[in-house]
Amino acid sequence: MRSIVENYAELPRFIRKPLWRYWHSWIIAREKKSVVMTCMNYGFAGLDAPKTVDLSPEDESERYGLQMYDQAASWTSLEGKDVLEVGSGRGGGASFLTRYRKPASYVGVDLSEPGIRFCNEHHRVDKLRFVKGDAEALPFADDSFDAIVNVESSRCYPRIERFFAEVKRVLRPGGTFLLTDMRWKEDVPKLRGQLANAGFFIDSEREIREDVVRALDIDDERKRTLIGSRIPRLFVAAFGEFAGVRGSGRYASFASGRMEYWSFKVVHAG
Ligand SMILES: C[S@@+](CC[C@H](N)C(=O)[O-])C[C@H]1O[C@@H](n2cnc3c(N)ncnc32)[C@H](O)[C@@H]1O
Repeated sequence: MRSIVENYAELPRFIRKPLWRYWHSWIIAREKKSVVMTCMNYGFAGLDAPKTVDLSPEDESERYGLQMYDQAASWTSLEGKDVLEVGSGRGGGASFLTRYRKPASYVGVDLSEPGIRFCNEHHRVDKLRFVKGDAEALPFADDSFDAIVNVESSRCYPRIERFFAEVKRVLRPGGTFLLTDMRWKEDVPKLRGQLANAGFFIDSEREIREDVVRALDIDDERKRTLIGSRIPRLFVAAFGEFAGVRGSGRYASFASGRMEYWSFKVVHAG
């Protein structure tokens, strides 16, 4: 189980989407009424000062996951824009960006039906909505959005070239694609090539692996306590892998630099 989680992105294409759907449903079924987690990324903490954004008290418990969104959006202003997020997960980042960055509208899309239902019930924020959809076949008309946000999701997609073609299709001319995700160090040039082949130009970029490791370190105890109190023993190791706790394969690959974590501001090339 643990190794399935660790090597998810290397699994055969046909199994990845059903597995994600199952994983979401499982988390939601376990949660019952008390929601403790609306972010599912590894987090971001500043190297000099870990706290990189002022948060209201109710957002504090998910600080590092939200800071990942804050850094992704820091490349551009979202104010007054129509924003799409692909792979919005449990919606914490979408809610945060809508409340703090003031877009005209924000739509979160995810593969998971129960995940979307959870988001629409849990995040009651003006101008924010969630719809079910696949990154490789987005349910929107051409030229619908000014900005597209994608955080720690693209590595899961079986055919990333289809996703990039869809981003290009639904993004208005001059729009911005904010892509943040991990890749094995040797796969980063391939990602750049895939973006270029799709007709995109990387306007700005930053490698944030160390900030991710810092967040994993700071948040380790909270995650372990959460996992220990909510997850049956049999699944604790798999969940620890998913959460990137110290001692997990994921943590080791970030700490050693084998796995990198990149943040890109991408624009139409032509
Ligand atoms: C690691 S989670 C990150 C979620 C969220 N971005 C966050 O940072 O909290 C990856 C998300 O991508 C979604 N996902 C995976 N494949 C997808 C696809 N083909 N289309 C849309 N969403 C997908 C998963 O359902 C999951 O919610």
